[in-house]
Formats: sequence, C-alpha cells, structure tokens
Amino acid sequence: MMESKTITINVLEANGLMELQQADRALLSLARQACSGAYTPFSHFNVGAAVRLSDGTVVTGSNQENAAYPSGLCAERTALFYAQSQYPHLAVEALAVVAVSEGRQTEDPVYPCGACRQVMLECQKRGGKPLRVVMGGSQKIQIVENVIDLLPLAFDQF
Ligand code: THU
Repeated sequence: MMESKTITINVLEANGLMELQQADRALLSLARQACSGAYTPFSHFNVGAAVRLSDGTVVTGSNQENAAYPSGLCAERTALFYAQSQYPHLAVEALAVVAVSEGRQTEDPVYPCGACRQVMLECQKRGGKPLRVVMGGSQKIQIVENVIDLLPLAFDQF
C-alpha cells in the first residue's frame, strides 16, 4: 500500500511594511523603484527585484521582454544573474520582488515563476546559506526564509 506524505512549507505573512524588519523594508523599496526600469511592451506588467549580498551590496533588476517571447527574462533572474556576474564570491542573502500594473503596485504579493525558483535554489546552494525571499504586495507581504519553501521536491542533484 502506498503511503501518503504531507510536505509542509513555511511562509511568514505581514499586513504592512511596519511589521517587517528594516532590511526587508529597504529591499522592498528598492525592488519597487526597480520596476521603473522594466521593458514590458507585451505584458505591461512591470516587475522589480532587489537582491542583498553578504556584504550588504544591493543589486536590482526588472523584467525585460522581447518580441520573441521566450527570450525575455523575469526581474528575479535579471537581478540574480547580474549579482552573480558582478560579485561571484558573495552569497545572495535575500531577494525582494514587487510588481506594478496599470501604474500601481499589485495588492497581492507577486510569486516568482518556476524557472526563477529553480535559479534561486541554485543561488542559495552556491552561497551556502538560506536565501530569504520577500514577496511584496500593497496589502500583503509574504516571506519565506529558505528557497526550498518555494520549491518543494526540487531537482537539486547538481
Ligand atoms: N515576471 C517577472 O518578471 N517575475 C515574476 O515573478 C512573474 C512574471 C514577468 C515576466 C513577464 O515579463 C511579465 O512578468 C508577465 O508575465
């Protein structure tokens, strides 16, 4: 008889910025500013991401679309790949992501796509410490302390 197993993920939820620690607030604010650099002629959905490295350096990115749709890149991967290109020896400690649609930040948090989650997982492994992900909406903010909470049963045999 097969066994049914339940996998638990841990998510912290805040109803406003004041419930967050200062470092997360600052990262969300930079992610919000990064939305203005998005290139989104196709979706008009502007996403900004900010990553904090182990020495406190912050790198931001935004989604960059392309007429050949799969060639575009999400905000999270733009920021992470840039950070790892410029600072290959620093661990990525935290990533914040927010989205702006029709000129306003989305009310609900924006959740990273599957491909970005896989990239985050590898960044976390590479850095050797938990990578905190802060997903911001104007009405609700959700945080996972470890990328595995966004990608249970992940491929990680590398
Ligand atoms: N997008 C991101 O940049 N990050 C996410 O977490 C979700 C989706 C982008 C991809 C595309 O440019 C646009 O949002 C709409 O799907």
